[in-house]
Amino acid sequence: MTSIIDSKATHQLNKKRINMLADNLKVLLASTETFSLKSRNFHWNIEGSDFPQYHSFFGDLYSETYGTVDRIAEYIRVLDSYAPGSLTRYNELTIIEDQTKIPRAELMFVESLQDCMKMIALVVGMFDVATAERQQGIANYMAELQDLYAKRAWMIRSILKKERE
Ligand SMILES: [Fe+2]
Repeated sequence: MTSIIDSKATHQLNKKRINMLADNLKVLLASTETFSLKSRNFHWNIEGSDFPQYHSFFGDLYSETYGTVDRIAEYIRVLDSYAPGSLTRYNELTIIEDQTKIPRAELMFVESLQDCMKMIALVVGMFDVATAERQQGIANYMAELQDLYAKRAWMIRSILKKERE
């Protein structure tokens, strides 16, 4: 009878791939920090006739994404790597571009939608790496983050839609 517990040989963690997963988590951490900071910038500075809804949408987006940062950092520590916690490191690691200007409302949504799609691509790739390394908790969390950004992308697409086709 085959045991459900793998033999030591097959169960050994591939240290190189685990380090790669930790490095990916660092990129995710930096990107999430940048994403949430940008959402807060938009929350503060958005203007237009639908200001109350827009202001609250970006406020929620900021809180929701910022709420994921700590868990990502703790997974990096679980993998025995150190979590970056400085703006300089975030700037080096992020895949989300910083926004130093104040775009018009519509452009804020367009940019945020593009950023959501980048975050989805990142966590989808990381789900596969985590699964291959049997890091089930991390894989689960990547799936949750995919849902979070996909849901936000749907909302933004709906906000941007001018009229029914
Ligand atoms: Fe606020």
